[in-house]
Amino acid sequence: MHRHTHRPDNQPPRHRGLFRLAPSRLVLLASSALATVAAAVGVTPSTASAAEVVIYCSVNEDWCREAVTSFERQTGIKTLMTRKSSGEVYAQLRAEKTNPKADVWFGGSGDPHLQAAEEGLTEVYKSNKLEELYGWAVKQAEVSQYRTVGVYMGALGFGYNKDLLAKRKLTPPACWSDLIGAGFRDEVQVADPNSSGTSYTMLATMVQLMGEDAAFDYLKKLHKNVNQYTKSGAAPAKSVAQGETMLGITFQHDLLTEVIAGAPVSIVAPCEGTGYEIGSMSIIKGARNMETAKAFYEWALTPEAQALSAKVKNYQIPSNAGAAIPAEAPRIDKMKLISYDFARYGSTAERTRLLGKWDREVKALAK
Ligand code: G6P
Repeated sequence: MHRHTHRPDNQPPRHRGLFRLAPSRLVLLASSALATVAAAVGVTPSTASAAEVVIYCSVNEDWCREAVTSFERQTGIKTLMTRKSSGEVYAQLRAEKTNPKADVWFGGSGDPHLQAAEEGLTEVYKSNKLEELYGWAVKQAEVSQYRTVGVYMGALGFGYNKDLLAKRKLTPPACWSDLIGAGFRDEVQVADPNSSGTSYTMLATMVQLMGEDAAFDYLKKLHKNVNQYTKSGAAPAKSVAQGETMLGITFQHDLLTEVIAGAPVSIVAPCEGTGYEIGSMSIIKGARNMETAKAFYEWALTPEAQALSAKVKNYQIPSNAGAAIPAEAPRIDKMKLISYDFARYGSTAERTRLLGKWDREVKALAK
């Protein structure tokens, strides 16, 4: 049975396959299912034709699929999903501002969600589950004036392929400063911070950790060692696992997924300290399916929904205090985390300025 629709990038939502059943039966099923979930989450469904929801999803594809499949199974609400990186979804929401094509933006690092909030691209919505969430997730809602909310958190780091490192007889890196060493020329992979929220987290982390001038000096040196700026943030973790690159800068939980799958990867929480993300969720301003959008949003904040990530080997820390923290999750209490200024680095002025500067001063540099 067709459980969800994955559309390739840049395609408008397709609603084909929606009417498998006779329309009258579908309406009946859909409206009763919607009434059930609506009652559970405290929303009032307006019409039966609203029994679908369109999601832009910025967590890893397998979690996106698991979330969509479970939500659809539990509610009967037809759920259409496209996976895109956080910076890409932000840009798409801007482009679709006058004609929104999706209802909920699920997951992805928090800074682009905050920028979308500031620009009024997302809807004010105050969930009654806020009181169940950790302070960091609620703070994300407060900073955005309730246009977004924290769903999970995870720390940035890097990983290396142990076999490749041993073959080259290199010293295992432990610090950010090690990554710019001459031995790692063309051996580092990281995403482009314009498309990827992961990589923007790295850019903002360096600025906060080192100060802006030193951070850009560092990023220019790192550029010499970068073999590819990928579109999605977690792609370098897969490349490290497959031995396509020796080093990858990603969230530590994305590397952990590869380690647990048996890849010869070591995960590093950098010695200088590191930044982190508040993975977020927002309802899109002008959503066509506002009631089902709210139903999905409320569902995604439940402990049950938040447990689905670990089921598909995604090891972030869930925002609902009632959801179990996966035993495997990287121990953030054992890391040196910076005090990340989300309000500042998620603001339009700062994010736009830093990305522009990175494009001009780092990406454009000859190697
Ligand atoms: C992966 C991580 C998430 C993160 C997301 C950001 O999916 O598991 O924790 O929020 O990347 O994606 P992006 O492609 O925007 O870096």
